[in-house]
Amino acid sequence: MIRPKLLCISLVFLIAVFYETDGYYSYGVDECIFDSREMTDVEYLRTFYFNQVKDVQFNSTIRKFVGFTEQGEKIAGYLNNDSATIQQMRGAVDRVCKHNGAVFFSSVLDKTVKPEVRVRSVKKASGTHPTVLMCSAYDFYPKAIKLTWLKDGQPVTSDVTSAEEMADGDWYYQVHSHLEHIPKSGEKISCMVEHASFTKPMTYDLEPSLSESDTKKIAIGTSGLLLGVILAAAGFIYYKRKSTGRLLVPH
Ligand SMILES: *[C@@H]1O[C@H](CO)[C@@H](O)[C@H](O)[C@H]1NC(C)=O
Ligand SMILES: *[C@@H]1O[C@H](CO)[C@@H](O)[C@H](O)[C@H]1NC(C)=O
Repeated sequence: MIRPKLLCISLVFLIAVFYETDGYYSYGVDECIFDSREMTDVEYLRTFYFNQVKDVQFNSTIRKFVGFTEQGEKIAGYLNNDSATIQQMRGAVDRVCKHNGAVFFSSVLDKTVKPEVRVRSVKKASGTHPTVLMCSAYDFYPKAIKLTWLKDGQPVTSDVTSAEEMADGDWYYQVHSHLEHIPKSGEKISCMVEHASFTKPMTYDLEPSLSESDTKKIAIGTSGLLLGVILAAAGFIYYKRKSTGRLLVPH
């Protein structure tokens, strides 16, 4: 049975470094492999390397040391006979793995950050080319996320291109999905996002995009409003001046 390896915590510890003419390097690695958040099935491994060659390993599943080289087999035989060492190694699942695992889960792995989602049109349809829509999720954690395009609530899979999640370099991720589509009036386009930070899938509607004539209308409207504001201000200043002037004149 292949176990899904959810998490592997490695604690590297240096056992000994010997400097001679060429130098020898020996080190050990502790690993805890969890298959679930509940830590019901945890494998603890302590591996010893000598000059990068894996010699001997304690495997908590078989509860003993195994040698990988001639030298390693000798060491394994010796260590397996040492009841104090074996007892200590067998206790490491609880002492090292479950203890550190609980700390890692609560301080890092259980943390989630909600994505900021935008659904917009990035390219307008022209001639035979369809409109290109983009659904973007920004600044979320952890990495695993799923974006699904919906047309009138129904999932769309064709004409969709999704990129890989990208690391922002600050623990957060971003992801983008594109949909090529021919707009139809009355059709509702949205993007559904599934992420660990949400209790249920969240749906985001396409942001209304402005057509060229809309932009012109807004420009004219804004100019008109500005002119109105200037005239009103000028009128108000004129009125104030006049009324203040009147007050200053003694009767
Ligand atoms: C530890 O031993 C078990 C049982 O033989 C085996 O399935 C597992 O692959 C071993 N782990 C490693 C890392 O070799
Ligand atoms: C381990 O112990 C057994 C019995 O006490 C002994 O026969 C064997 O030689 C020992 N092996 C090593 C590698 O020390």
